[in-house]
Amino acid sequence: MKYRYPLHTFVNRILVRRLVLVGLSVSILIGGTAWFQVRHLAADRAVGVALDRLTIIRAQYLRLRTAGVPREDSIFQAINSLNEMDFNRQRGFFVAGVFYDREEDFHVFGDSTLAASVEGAAIVGNDRSQRPELGESISSLVHVEDQVAIHVVVPIAGTDGQVAAWVSTVYLLTPDAAAELTSEPLQAVGLVVLIVLAISTLLYPVILKLARRLAEFSGDLLEANLEMMEALGCAIAKRDGDTDAHNYRVTIYSVRLAEKEGLSTKAIQGLIKGAFLHDIGKIGIRDNVLLKPGRLTEDEFSVMKTHVDHGLDIVGRSRWLHDALAIVGSHHEKFDGHGYPAKIPGDMIPATARIFAITDVFDALSSERPYKEALPLERVIAILEEGRGTHFDPDLLTSFLLIAPELHAKLMDWGTEELRTEMFRINGQYFASGLETLLA
Ligand SMILES: [Fe+2]
Repeated sequence: MKYRYPLHTFVNRILVRRLVLVGLSVSILIGGTAWFQVRHLAADRAVGVALDRLTIIRAQYLRLRTAGVPREDSIFQAINSLNEMDFNRQRGFFVAGVFYDREEDFHVFGDSTLAASVEGAAIVGNDRSQRPELGESISSLVHVEDQVAIHVVVPIAGTDGQVAAWVSTVYLLTPDAAAELTSEPLQAVGLVVLIVLAISTLLYPVILKLARRLAEFSGDLLEANLEMMEALGCAIAKRDGDTDAHNYRVTIYSVRLAEKEGLSTKAIQGLIKGAFLHDIGKIGIRDNVLLKPGRLTEDEFSVMKTHVDHGLDIVGRSRWLHDALAIVGSHHEKFDGHGYPAKIPGDMIPATARIFAITDVFDALSSERPYKEALPLERVIAILEEGRGTHFDPDLLTSFLLIAPELHAKLMDWGTEELRTEMFRINGQYFASGLETLLA
């Protein structure tokens, strides 16, 4: 019989979710970077155009000065040449500015009101600390009456090689040029998203195949562990003269009671393992004690009690079986603290062990063994009631007795194969869920 896990379903679901999440993160990260980079480049390009055009005014000024035109006239003629520049208006044009000469006289040209409205740029002003040195320039993107513009401050060299004047001006971008500042970054982001999408689409089948193999491999490992658990349970049942059916029934009873009590999947996994292997330590008990018919002497009983320690020793060697230790070590504890080996009372006994203590006795009494007949249900319940609060947890006993008659009627009708089938179903339900964390 093969365990069936919904591998493909959860591998697909988890993989798609992960890929979408990673794709989104990468898109946001690279797309965001691309947006800022491309926008920066577009802005630099616009500034470059403005600066290029300002070199014309510098050249004009120098040409006039070299030709002997007085400085004042050179400045005005240079300003006029700037005002008259109407070529290359596809990108933008100078709308306003201030021309500072060395003596700090300033000459406003163009629309001075417009210049004054430039946000974040002191076009009209006289702050020398804001002036760049020769060979440098200051530029920034600004908004002028809802239009995108570039504010540029550049020095102009005089014939003596010193700064003769500074031009602080506004270069208004045309709507097309301004739109490029947004459209180009958007195109870059779109390209990034497309690339991420294409890579994810290409990677999906490859990762899916690997993930399925990994999940199936893990499923096989889990199956091997469960089979080994069943084999060990079967081994001790044969040694003890018991049957597999007892292991299956007591596990099914325990799981149903645990479900009724709302125990977690993890706790129920430990319960299943513990129920199967609770008496594994009996392998270490010698035959004249383990197989002795009739009552054991006090010394023999002391030897018999050591099966708990043997069990802890055996199960403790397997990390996968570690959650079975609670039942292996505490299945003979009693609610009033008179059990063994630790004599712990009440809630100090693990919940799974308190559950198992009830179902183990219930099945032992209600089923037929080679050396005894099965007791009728009413008699079994009466015996359990005698142990209420002393041997058994009273709340758990009440809860169990609510489901016991129906379960007992069903399980007593089942042969070993039917019990085994039900056990496989339960194992598939509780252990397969653990596989869902495989890709987490
Ligand atoms: Fe035991």
